[in-house]
Amino acid sequence: MAIPKKVQQEIDDLREQLRYHSHRYYVLDDPEISDAEYDRFFDRLVELENEYPEAVTPDSPTQKVGAEPSGTFESVRHHVPMLSLDKVTQEEEFLDFHKRVVKLLSGDEPTYTTEPKLDGLAVELTYEDGVLVVGSTRGNGTTGENVTANLKTVGSIPLRLMCKKHPSTLDVRGEVVLGRKPFAELNRDREKKGEEPFANPRNAAAGSLRQLDPQITAARPLVFYAYGVGRYDGIDLNTQSDALDFLKECGFRVHTLVGLRKSTDDVIAAHDEIGEKRTDLDEETDGTVIKVNEFGYQNRLGAVSHHPRWAVAWKFPAQEESTTVDDIIVQVGRTGIVSPVAVLKPVRVGGVEVRRASLHNEDEVRRKDVRVGDKVIVRRAGDVIPEVVKVVSTDKKNRAKPFQFPRKCPACGAEVVREEGSAFYKCTNLACPAQVKERLAHFVSNNGVDVDGLGGKWIEQLVESETVTDPADIYFLTKDKLLEFERMGDKLAQNLLDAIDQSRHPELHQLIAALGINHVGEHIARVLASEFGTIDALAEASKEDLESVNEIGPKVAESIHQFFSLSQTKELLKKLHRGGVEFPTVTKRSAAKRPFDGMTFVVTGTLPNLKRDEAKKLIEDAGGRVTGSVSKNTDVVVVGEDPGSKYDKAQKLDITIWDEKKLAKEAKSS
Ligand code: IVH
Repeated sequence: MAIPKKVQQEIDDLREQLRYHSHRYYVLDDPEISDAEYDRFFDRLVELENEYPEAVTPDSPTQKVGAEPSGTFESVRHHVPMLSLDKVTQEEEFLDFHKRVVKLLSGDEPTYTTEPKLDGLAVELTYEDGVLVVGSTRGNGTTGENVTANLKTVGSIPLRLMCKKHPSTLDVRGEVVLGRKPFAELNRDREKKGEEPFANPRNAAAGSLRQLDPQITAARPLVFYAYGVGRYDGIDLNTQSDALDFLKECGFRVHTLVGLRKSTDDVIAAHDEIGEKRTDLDEETDGTVIKVNEFGYQNRLGAVSHHPRWAVAWKFPAQEESTTVDDIIVQVGRTGIVSPVAVLKPVRVGGVEVRRASLHNEDEVRRKDVRVGDKVIVRRAGDVIPEVVKVVSTDKKNRAKPFQFPRKCPACGAEVVREEGSAFYKCTNLACPAQVKERLAHFVSNNGVDVDGLGGKWIEQLVESETVTDPADIYFLTKDKLLEFERMGDKLAQNLLDAIDQSRHPELHQLIAALGINHVGEHIARVLASEFGTIDALAEASKEDLESVNEIGPKVAESIHQFFSLSQTKELLKKLHRGGVEFPTVTKRSAAKRPFDGMTFVVTGTLPNLKRDEAKKLIEDAGGRVTGSVSKNTDVVVVGEDPGSKYDKAQKLDITIWDEKKLAKEAKSS
């Protein structure tokens, strides 16, 4: 049956709509229509294709899900071998790599791209005349498995290239990954069904892709990140960074942390940045892939048996290790929360020795069933406290009894209670020495009033001896009193007293932050300081007053209000005052509106004059806020030299872009 022109037109329009919206959703993370609207387009297309089966094409959006289970996977030969990467773990080794490259290029200095090394499964997608025809796994590098039907179900893989002029043949290479969250959900599901959980997201991604039934793959939220090209013809690509841009234009997801680097210093900085941000990323990242940018140089450098000489993977130190639980104790925090902690046989994780790991709360200990003597996996992620991931083996015969959460505070013996709806036990005694120590440590830290030299050892002694029972007590210390402590000399005592004296003149935001109000960190403290101008005004603010401040939500408002209504807080403030602490006044925001009030900034690239933290201070002093990544909520992106992907994203989202000069000028205007 011939397809009526009008029907064909409708089918074409629907496909175009669906491709456009699928790209916005899966690749740009920025949908324009609701799921329901998308489904309506989709259902209509299915309806028409059912009516006119001859209208179905392999690149129709309906073909993303349909295929029948295949019996086995055929093998696919890669036209250009998929090599692996040589590894380095230290800066010097990377610099040696660079030296070797320059030597092989007879002194020519290449530029480099840096890309996060995503930990998933490498695949190749072959497009003929812009249409996906074969998708395969890397396999042994020369031959992989044909998993086309499964790859077609991955949302971020276009069935048809979106670029204006597409090459007659294009091999796209990249990594299929499964995010941490879906990975955890998947494992929970498997455990419920009595199936063996996957060891890591990479295995889970591989397992999901090698399913004989594509419907199973379709149900897993896999993501494809493109990182390179194999064969291509009919287009002109000269560098890796051009290739990455081209892949974006074709409709692929290219990682936001990729960038072009002009010097080894910039490569090192990029590696550090990926290292810092990796814990915030949805996907597991185990290093930085550094590639010579110029294809001409890549060709001159060539490859040795398994890896190219023009690229290297700079791996992060392993972040997980196994060790034994020697004990399980509980710790009391600043706010009285009592949390279980595993005392471990010391183990190095990611270059740092770990002796303790968090077990979070009672339910977590129970769920993971961690007991003394068990062998466990510990994970360290960035600056966060290491945690116990899971138990790997136990002494079956002599296993210790399950951990019993104590009913009494280990520090002061007071009762601990678990409030309704909370996962945490709290010590009910505000004078509990463990809480006092934590509060004092916070008060004197550089997030608080910053008393130099008053470290853990002295805090311990001051609190244990009951010389200090709240932070204000430090302002009543005398030299004689200090000299009573072991190993305290005249000079040290004087230094401490001087440092304490200096802290009598804090800035208002420092003082607010020092109080240790729940949910009030440095940034919110600044917001409060400029909004209310004095401690008294803040203390008297109603919940409504607080909530009306930009950036303060109901939870934070409640916490601040509650804090100032406590009689202990009132006592503490009076005592600080008596101890000579100045309560400063700042010009209120309402009286002097600042130029960047309520604005969010991102700084990227190297600025000509200002260092990163100087630019940050300039923005914050003018009332603005600085964040790490560009989103729809970003107001201004300040761009320096070599800006990288944040700049691209800002342009894509049409965000105002300033240079350093413009920033300085605007910050002054008020
Ligand atoms: S390039 C010739 N780029 O790492 C270059 N690989 O050890 C070969 N990988 O099999 C690969 N992110 O699975 C490249 N941005 C990236 C990558 C990446 C992850 C994986 C890939 C490959 C393995 C190489």
